[in-house]
Amino acid sequence: MSVLVLLASAAGWGSVVYAGIATTKHNLSVVGLGAVKSIDETEICIFCHTPHRAIKNDNIPLWNHNLSTAGNYGVYTSPTFDGVTTVQDLGGTDATTAAVSNLCLSCHDGTVAINALNNPSNANQNGNPTMGGTNADGTLPDGTSRLGTDLTDDHPVNFIFDAALFAVDNSLNDPATLTEVVLFNGTVQCASCHDPHNSVNPAFLRVSNTGSALCLRCHNK
Ligand code: HEC
Ligand code: HEC
Ligand code: HEC
Ligand code: HEC
Repeated sequence: MSVLVLLASAAGWGSVVYAGIATTKHNLSVVGLGAVKSIDETEICIFCHTPHRAIKNDNIPLWNHNLSTAGNYGVYTSPTFDGVTTVQDLGGTDATTAAVSNLCLSCHDGTVAINALNNPSNANQNGNPTMGGTNADGTLPDGTSRLGTDLTDDHPVNFIFDAALFAVDNSLNDPATLTEVVLFNGTVQCASCHDPHNSVNPAFLRVSNTGSALCLRCHNK
């Protein structure tokens, strides 16, 4: 019995091993595994964070990637969308108004070079990292990861998901009891569904979407 318990515990630990960002496409350093990576930058976090001289506002974590200046991403609409009164356009970004979704869009709208950093690493004598294998202008390659600057055809983001929205839409789960998916200052952002460091689930999802489990965290369908 004790052997079984021990084995069960070991399996439990094994199933929650979190290898981390190093084994994902978000490792953009020289040892990165994806098609997009640097030929001279050995640090991983530097493409997104810096310990000093970060792009500062109170919504974003020590951010180091130059933000997009795209003017207007548009807002999602539909006849049944109840978040419509609180949804906010993410465009016209400057550092003081950036939301968490603007961090993703700083690479994924395809307008800013992947290597455009606010504060390059001290170790890299070339300044901003030199990239290999990207578009000529250094932006995210064409493909499904390049969302572009029109978000009206994407799951809505940057809107408040609170008790009031829960009260008018009975097909949502209570935002106070969500697990693993997260709200940022009470709002749905790209990183509500994605964890950019997650190496366990495909597409950096916070919850595997097998059986649409991710969707069912918020939608009671
Ligand atoms: C490709 C971009 C990217 C890279 C590379 C990256 N991060 Fe992040 N990180 C983000 C984004 C976006 C957020 C905000 C969204 C969130 O909290 O998930 C964030 C949030 C964080 C946070 C605050 C929230 C939390 O999860 O605790 C910490 C701490 C952090 N990152 C540490 C790191 C470290 C350490 C590394 C390198 C090993 C790293 N990150 C690499 C994009 C990145
Ligand atoms: C973090 C919570 C969360 C997750 C996870 C989530 N959603 Fe949503 N979603 C919402 C909220 C909140 C709304 C706004 C609902 C409303 O106002 O009608 C919404 C809106 C939508 C809408 C538009 C509804 C309309 O009336 O126009 C659809 C469709 C939708 N989600 C599908 C999905 C699918 C499919 C998934 C999984 C891939 C998913 N959602 C994951 C929170 C979430
Ligand atoms: C510093 C630039 C950068 C930032 C910031 C960034 N990404 Fe990425 N992301 C990339 C690159 C590069 C790829 C690989 C693209 C390719 O191979 O075509 C990628 C790939 C992805 C993929 C596809 C993964 C796969 O397995 O195909 C997803 C999903 C993704 N990112 C989500 C996000 C989200 C969500 C955020 C914000 C929370 C974010 N990224 C922030 C650069 C970035
Ligand atoms: C409601 C949950 C949800 C939100 C919010 C969300 N995503 Fe996703 N995203 C997903 C799911 C689920 C997939 C995987 C789709 C699949 O496997 O078919 C995905 C896939 C992706 C991909 C890979 C390309 C693709 O089409 O499969 C990228 C890049 C990406 N998301 C970036 C973002 C960015 C940037 C934002 C914010 C503007 C965002 N996501 C907001 C759920 C979400």
